[in-house]
Amino acid sequence: MSKQITRRNFLGAAGAAALVSAVGSTATAADKPLKILGIACSPRKGMTTAKAVQVALDSAKAVSPRIETELIDLGGLNIAGHLPKQAADDFDAILPKLKDTALGGLIIGSPSYFRSMSALCKAFIERCGPLREPRTLADKPVGVVALGSFRNGGQELVIEQIQTAMLCFGMIPVGGNPPAYQGATVQSTKDEISADELGLDTAKKLGVRIAEVALRMAGKKE
Ligand SMILES: Cc1cc2nc3c(=O)[nH]c(=O)nc-3n(C[C@H](O)[C@H](O)[C@H](O)COP(=O)(O)O)c2cc1C
Repeated sequence: MSKQITRRNFLGAAGAAALVSAVGSTATAADKPLKILGIACSPRKGMTTAKAVQVALDSAKAVSPRIETELIDLGGLNIAGHLPKQAADDFDAILPKLKDTALGGLIIGSPSYFRSMSALCKAFIERCGPLREPRTLADKPVGVVALGSFRNGGQELVIEQIQTAMLCFGMIPVGGNPPAYQGATVQSTKDEISADELGLDTAKKLGVRIAEVALRMAGKKE
């Protein structure tokens, strides 16, 4: 026997269906997860750059239950810079994560190598070329974590170089609250960062800011 449809429950069901089709799903924008990817660009896997990026990611995650994080450690991976005839390499597995519609922002970490970003970091950025059109990364925040064995070992220059490159993708460069105005500037001593309280504080503040801006920008789009 078919279920009897009253005028009241027909109108209720039709109203709910119209609402679902207007917003695309029953989940509101505020429910959708936002992924913050950390990219550690030292050729040494799991070392100080990866550790400092993880500190920033943990801090981002604590901002909201919506924030999800993942560290991609490029250490040990084979990633060539842009070439006219690009051979397949380890970047191919990373590209889909950068295209994920849930991506809310990036935290890029690089050691200071002669006061510049690492070659691996430059190669990674060059390979992001396909993300410029369509503007996959546009309007998403990017923050930088820079490591050096000196207190003033070029960390701020490394941050500036990476931020400048990411402007080509329409990303929004962010730093953090004081003293992390430009980003995270961390000093490693004998391959350790645990003693650098000031540097770790900048990494935490950068993580918070990335999460805050990611949430704000994602809210605006929907
Ligand atoms: C080729 C090379 C160049 C470096 N140049 C600098 C530099 O200019 N300034 C600095 O503070 N540290 C410099 N360092 C030290 C690294 O930035 C530092 O040890 C960093 O923590 C390494 O990151 P990782 O532990 O993730 O590999 C250099 C290291 C290497 C191997």
